[in-house]
Amino acid sequence: MIRDMHCHILYGVDDGASTREESLRMLDVAAHGGITQIMATPHFRGRWNNRELVHQTFDDLVVEAKQRGIILMLGSEFFIREFDRDNIEYIKNELCFENSNTILLELSSFTSIDDARDVIYPLQRNGMKVIIAHPERYKEIQHRPVLHEEYLIMNCELQLSADCFALPSWSIRRRTAKALFKANAYALVASDAHSAADYERFLVSVKKYGLN
Ligand SMILES: [Fe+2]
Repeated sequence: MIRDMHCHILYGVDDGASTREESLRMLDVAAHGGITQIMATPHFRGRWNNRELVHQTFDDLVVEAKQRGIILMLGSEFFIREFDRDNIEYIKNELCFENSNTILLELSSFTSIDDARDVIYPLQRNGMKVIIAHPERYKEIQHRPVLHEEYLIMNCELQLSADCFALPSWSIRRRTAKALFKANAYALVASDAHSAADYERFLVSVKKYGLN
């Protein structure tokens, strides 16, 4: 039984699945691989902020998912630069994981821990639990993996995008992920899949490294 809490399965809303057929292929691969719950996390970033379209696509796929024995839920991958003190209620009510106050926060590669703190604390003060998406991608942590502890001290959870385990061994993302994994830093392992092929790679990594 595998839960995937970060996935770009909704077609036509961001840089994930581009067609309905691709979304259905992702569901088929997921069902076949033993995934029983998927959190759809479309980007909330720049031109990808059409939540009306997100809901339409989600409502369509939730039925397809159910037919395959998968619970599909809705959240978002919230990009740090979209933060504004005036939109905290919107973030809480619309962009958190369904039925929870958990927000999946995406940083830019160059976001510093201090800049992240300026966003994380207001989110937390407003009752949100913050998950940091794929810390292995961020330059500061790649440079000094031990800095991931700063996010743990802030009471954030860290989410591994397991696709990086399929990268070549010299890849900085892979090496950073391995260091964090070894340090038991990750609370969640997710696919961050954008296509059926991504999902296949994810499932290979999950099985190979016993990630579920
Ligand atoms: Fe993502």
